[in-house]
Amino acid sequence: MTDSIIRSVADLREIVAGWRQEGKRVGLVPTMGAIHAGHLSLVSIAAKNCDKVIASVFVNPTQFGENEDLDAYPVDEAKDVRNLTDAGTDLVFCPGKEEIYPNGFSTVISVSGLTAGLCGPFRPGHFDGVATVVSKLLLQCLPDIAVFGEKDYQQLLVIRQLVSDLNIPVEIVGAPIIREDDGLAMSSRNRYLSPDERRVAPEFNRVLTDVAALIKAKPDECQNICRNAREELLELGFASVDYVSVCDIETLELLKTYRHPARVFGAAYLGASRLIDNLPVD
Ligand code: PAF
Repeated sequence: MTDSIIRSVADLREIVAGWRQEGKRVGLVPTMGAIHAGHLSLVSIAAKNCDKVIASVFVNPTQFGENEDLDAYPVDEAKDVRNLTDAGTDLVFCPGKEEIYPNGFSTVISVSGLTAGLCGPFRPGHFDGVATVVSKLLLQCLPDIAVFGEKDYQQLLVIRQLVSDLNIPVEIVGAPIIREDDGLAMSSRNRYLSPDERRVAPEFNRVLTDVAALIKAKPDECQNICRNAREELLELGFASVDYVSVCDIETLELLKTYRHPARVFGAAYLGASRLIDNLPVD
């Protein structure tokens, strides 16, 4: 299709080694495809900081739970590669499942602590799947930097932790959430929303923004304010709410009394789509 696609770890290593010999700085943007403006903002950050940008496109089966949307996950490799290269990606790494998880693959990277709350209990095994595939991608590519969006804020911290714990020589760069004009955080899963659900979806960000304002005014009321926010989301038509929580931005400790610096986190179902979002209190 295009010579900017490669599929094997051997090719990836050879190309990156060539770039390194030329003294180039290399940035990696790991994705699961279904590329949208949020991903392209990560490419642009990598391009600003590096001479060469690699994006990976791999729908990682190990981070999906049994009842999750792996089979329905949108796949359009040609379109993804076009969008990524148009945005300045030099090389797109599209490994097959066997390249990442060959027969007999038996290793799991599991980060404790940070995964105990928020999405952790609602998506058992998810962060092990993420930590394992991201460790592999970082070690396969050995980039100078790797860029991840703050929309998956818990994931970003998990990745920072594993990189520090495993001494992987890479700088992890967090990128701000890219939102639609009405405030909805961009996500590959937004395309599952029906027109009615899409109309309601921006309320999620609005409710979390209200939580941030309210807890600043009443720092001791975190739990009540979050409980009221969950009820409001249900009244607005959300099918269920996994959590609305205020947490420390580094440890993700759940805060009953607000203290700086904290973020508001939420996860809720609108129809069959699970939305997540978060924002700083200040
Ligand atoms: O954020 C994602 O798209 C995925 O979790 C990642 C980091 C590419 C790992 O599969």
